[in-house]
Amino acid sequence: MQGAFSLQAARGAEVRGKSVENLIGQDKTGRRPLPGLTVRGIAVWPGWLDRSAQEALVQDLRAVISQAPLFSPLTGGGKPMSVRMTSAGRFGWYSDSKGYRYIDRHPNGTDWPPIPERVLAIWRDLCGAAARAPECCLVNWYGPDARMGLHQDRDEADFSQPVLSISLGDDGLFRAGNLERGGATQSLWLKSGDVLALEGPSRLLYHGIDRIAPGTSTLLSAPGRINLTLRVVT
Ligand code: SIN
Ligand code: MN
Repeated sequence: MQGAFSLQAARGAEVRGKSVENLIGQDKTGRRPLPGLTVRGIAVWPGWLDRSAQEALVQDLRAVISQAPLFSPLTGGGKPMSVRMTSAGRFGWYSDSKGYRYIDRHPNGTDWPPIPERVLAIWRDLCGAAARAPECCLVNWYGPDARMGLHQDRDEADFSQPVLSISLGDDGLFRAGNLERGGATQSLWLKSGDVLALEGPSRLLYHGIDRIAPGTSTLLSAPGRINLTLRVVT
């Protein structure tokens, strides 16, 4: 795809004499590791989670999904989204013909399970000391044909708080746009173990997933991709 930026290529490439991995260090304040790259102000930590950390997260998510099963939210137009979802935390993200919102229970009436400790640790490591604790961990399941159209994350009360996104399983083609609909966009393939943050000037950028590349990862037992999105809601 024209304009697509491959993290895999970046991993192998030399960036001003240093590999992307070597660029990961501490930021000036020492609060958090420097992102390996930045795309339109979105901080990206390629390969932040190694294979064993990814496998441990998948185990945690199996427990979340057994308590709060995946469901297909409806779009505003009343059609099921292609991505299946559930949540952990105080709030879960929900959508039906009445619109997008956070709800404090799974649609089947059970409590959302707590956000797994290993997920909270990633937030603490990458979001810096100033960030509040996340109140929602949205779990998105992309089957081979699922996609997510360009949208803003704007159902939260405090846009000074970051949104942290963790990719697991098959590669997903992420597209970053602008603060308003339209205009040029930039795409990058997100791989299993990559983490990114929408924060500061990038917090309200339009973004989405054009498609996944089934079979590009061996992490999950079936072709597909999991994305975890951590947000402060209130
Ligand atoms: C989202 O924006 O809700 C999901 C993004 C992704 O799947 O990487
Ligand atoms: Mn989003």
